Amino acid sequence: MSELTVLGIESTCDETAAAIVRGRTLVSNVVASSMEEHARYGGVIPEIASRAHAEAFVPVVSKALTDANMELSDVDAIAVSAGPGLAGCLAVGVSGAKALAWAANKPIYGINHVIGHIAVTQLQFGPFPKDTLALIVSGGHTSLLHVEDVARHVDVVGTTLDDAAGECFDKVARLLGFPYPGGPHIDRHGQLGDPHAIKVPQGLTRGKAGKDHPYDFSFSGVKTAVARWVEAQQAAGKEIPVDDVCASLADSVATVLSNKAMHGCEEYDSKTLIVGGGFSANSQLRAKLLEVGKEHGVEVRIPQIKLCTDNGAMVAMLGVNLVEAGVKPSSPDFPIDSAMPMNVISV
Ligand code: KG4
Ligand code: ZN
Repeated sequence: MSELTVLGIESTCDETAAAIVRGRTLVSNVVASSMEEHARYGGVIPEIASRAHAEAFVPVVSKALTDANMELSDVDAIAVSAGPGLAGCLAVGVSGAKALAWAANKPIYGINHVIGHIAVTQLQFGPFPKDTLALIVSGGHTSLLHVEDVARHVDVVGTTLDDAAGECFDKVARLLGFPYPGGPHIDRHGQLGDPHAIKVPQGLTRGKAGKDHPYDFSFSGVKTAVARWVEAQQAAGKEIPVDDVCASLADSVATVLSNKAMHGCEEYDSKTLIVGGGFSANSQLRAKLLEVGKEHGVEVRIPQIKLCTDNGAMVAMLGVNLVEAGVKPSSPDFPIDSAMPMNVISV
């Protein structure tokens, strides 16, 4: 059998993206972002993002097909993010994908964007080992997943009880005066600072809370501690050592994520850790995960930076997994689900 070819379409937030994946090969990958239009508001404005998706949809999908030297009739299936994400944004991508599937008479898969973030690692590292652990770190999600089969069975092992890591970074970044999204600014400044300059708490790691929540995360305390520290400095008329604040925050978050992920790998006897989501672009986290992975004999699979943030390749890759596994396509009237649970892989 020749390798399956899937067109993946993504519109959960501020990226309109489309890509073609054949087997485990990325054939084309096009991303249009409305990020700059949101920067002056300090966060994504759903109405602006939805309109940008409506404008970019046809050009982005056309370019993905042209770059691949293909026509719509050449793909075996279409996959589209059906959630989680902003409802208006999802509606644009899903409606467009349904129209394409109907016109070209192709099967369509409404997929879980979050699972796509981990599926994309297959483009670099090949198929998933059976029963592996995965760490999802995106703007809205921080969770440890047990992936028995990426097309059929995923369980949540632990999750954040409050803010996601990306959210925590974005909020502290705002406080420090960086534009949205703040994560990359904290990363850059963190590389210049002293990671031990400021004591930043590590949520749910010690005492009873740590025992009761071995795989859960909490980052709102981290955010508050940094905010208080910055306010106290300001009140005392002292200058804020921005690089040190960023480095200390990044070190605390990377350490908690890495240690909990390794603990999970031990418990689940997983020799591999799959990592995905926008926050996995973070350099402090990447370095820490590779370091602890080496210590624990765990192979850490982190996507290359351009595949960490939202893209169509992740959607297309998961689509290939679903078709290969013989999972039934979504019905033509499948709904979007802006709060799609993480154990739902496709609808
Ligand atoms: O996965 P993603 O692109 O969107 C969601 O599905 O949520 O993740 C976006 C998040 C934002 O919070 C952004 O600040 C963060 O990923 N991010 C980073 C870096 N690059 C993106 N956070 C820290 N360091 C980075 N280098
Ligand atoms: Zn994402």
